[in-house]
Amino acid sequence: MCGIFGIQFSEEKKDLGKILKKAAEKLTYRGYDSVGFATIGGDNKIDLRKDKGKIDKVYTELKMEEMKGSRGIIQLRWATFGIPSKENAQPHLGCKGNLVSAHNGNIVNTTELIKELTDKGHIFTGENDGEALCHQVEDWTEKGDTLEKAVIKANKKIDGHYACVCTIKDIPYMVAVKQGSSLFLGKGDDFVCVSSDLPSILEYTREYIPLMDGEFVVFDDKKYEIKDLMTGDTIEREPIKYDDDIHIADKGEFPHYMLKEIYEQPSNIKELLNFILKNSEYQENMKNLFSHERVFIVGAGSSYNASVTGSFYLQNLINKTVIVSNAGEFIQRWGKVLNNDDAFLLISQSGETKDVMIVLDFLENKGYENIFSMVNVTGSTLHMRVPERFPILSNLEIGVAATKTFINQVVAFLTMAAVLGKREDILKELSSLSEYIEEFIKKYDSETKTLAKNLLNHSAFYFLGYGISYGGVIEGALKVKELAYIPGEGFYSSEFKHGPLALISEDQPVVFLSSNEDSRITVSHINEIKVRKGKIYTIAPENEKLRKESDIFYPLNSDFYYFIPIFGVIFFQLLAYHMGVLKGENPDTPRNLSKSITVD
Ligand code: F6R
Repeated sequence: MCGIFGIQFSEEKKDLGKILKKAAEKLTYRGYDSVGFATIGGDNKIDLRKDKGKIDKVYTELKMEEMKGSRGIIQLRWATFGIPSKENAQPHLGCKGNLVSAHNGNIVNTTELIKELTDKGHIFTGENDGEALCHQVEDWTEKGDTLEKAVIKANKKIDGHYACVCTIKDIPYMVAVKQGSSLFLGKGDDFVCVSSDLPSILEYTREYIPLMDGEFVVFDDKKYEIKDLMTGDTIEREPIKYDDDIHIADKGEFPHYMLKEIYEQPSNIKELLNFILKNSEYQENMKNLFSHERVFIVGAGSSYNASVTGSFYLQNLINKTVIVSNAGEFIQRWGKVLNNDDAFLLISQSGETKDVMIVLDFLENKGYENIFSMVNVTGSTLHMRVPERFPILSNLEIGVAATKTFINQVVAFLTMAAVLGKREDILKELSSLSEYIEEFIKKYDSETKTLAKNLLNHSAFYFLGYGISYGGVIEGALKVKELAYIPGEGFYSSEFKHGPLALISEDQPVVFLSSNEDSRITVSHINEIKVRKGKIYTIAPENEKLRKESDIFYPLNSDFYYFIPIFGVIFFQLLAYHMGVLKGENPDTPRNLSKSITVD
């Protein structure tokens, strides 16, 4: 999704363009198609340069390196309102050229706003919702309102979720609003800044404050004041010190963030496991959540897939009804049959996904109280709004496709199920998981590359799993779609014969993930494909029968039943990564996708 960043320094910076580029690069992982910088210097002139395209190209072509000043605004746009173009790129200038602003989010009444403002004489250059916001604020500032007053009034006219940052050339401060999209404030020695997310702030300071929906902040180079958008009242909030290793935001020696993040999984797992087992608040929250008769786990994409595996663990190990729902369909499917005894776990690595936030609004409006969150990003909207939390401690995940956050979500569920189910055997195995995975990644990094080469000329893949393996194969299929842009479907293997089997022709690759416990039924499902000449790739613990029935067999280095989806997904992450790279794609930023999906 779009990313915004605004900064005010105490003195003129000759290299402001360079400074802004560094911050912008940290926002690129969110996904974007256009880039824009605006700067204001001592002469109080707004220098605005923007265009569609990737950052290096736009930066060079528009000579953004030359940009200087003490105030700067960046926007990286992921098109929703209006095609990617120079006109729709942000920041935007008001008609009079005094006000500059950039936003992130989705303003749903854009058409109405543009019509109303055009009737009043405003001139628009494109169809972008950020431009509507800019002119709406300008409408009042040009009539004499302070910028502060104008954003409060504009917020009342705007229907949608957004965050924005704006300033006027002749005033010595900036204003930023958070209303549904993420926004963080950072404070350094000689500047104050705001950003859609933390990595760009951490580039400059470790001291930050997450802003909450319905708040705005007025800031200059030294001070900031957080205020309520409805009442204008000042809100006190202490800054947080970011303690994790700053280098997590760098690729280090890896060619891509995604590969680095795959390799970080063993240490992340170890850290999470130690944390859960030692943290009494985490364990208390776990007991509370699962003291309820029915628990709903609600998430999207990979977070949903992790919940499918999580619910399998929990239902089998603690005998509770755990219902998993896609966030997007939760309200229509389940909304009418909920009751006050139900508990809800909202799961999202970014903590910003709109489908999940809509569910949270719904549950809160209906007065349901037992709401818990599992979030990776500290300070994100979900993290702040739902304090009964299960952190997953994956640190920043920059690659757009979820890898280490998925694995830690699954590990969190397994640890909860083992603790609550009093399964010492599982906890013992879990204590070695990180070492098993380290070996596994070393072994399969190169083998999956060879497999990726062999698979690339196929036009579709099927990933089949039974029982515990199912959550793993749907995640595997998602990874291949996202990174290799090849249709991949994950199926419950016993479902395949009920229709999809018609897709099998000679040499069609079908990938099985199986536990030893399910090997008998997996062999029978393999045979259904084999007799139709499909090609079988199996990932499973060493197993004579499965090996014999498969064209290629990839043995896991642990046969522990509960680890099958974890190993399986790591195999698929590596496979999808290599397929993407071999196709010449950048696996960190798959096309059309974004790290935090803040639109409907
Ligand atoms: C897939 C992926 C997405 C996200 C989904 C939900 O690799 O990353 O499917 O899982 O957009 O995002 P979060 O977990 O941030 O709510």
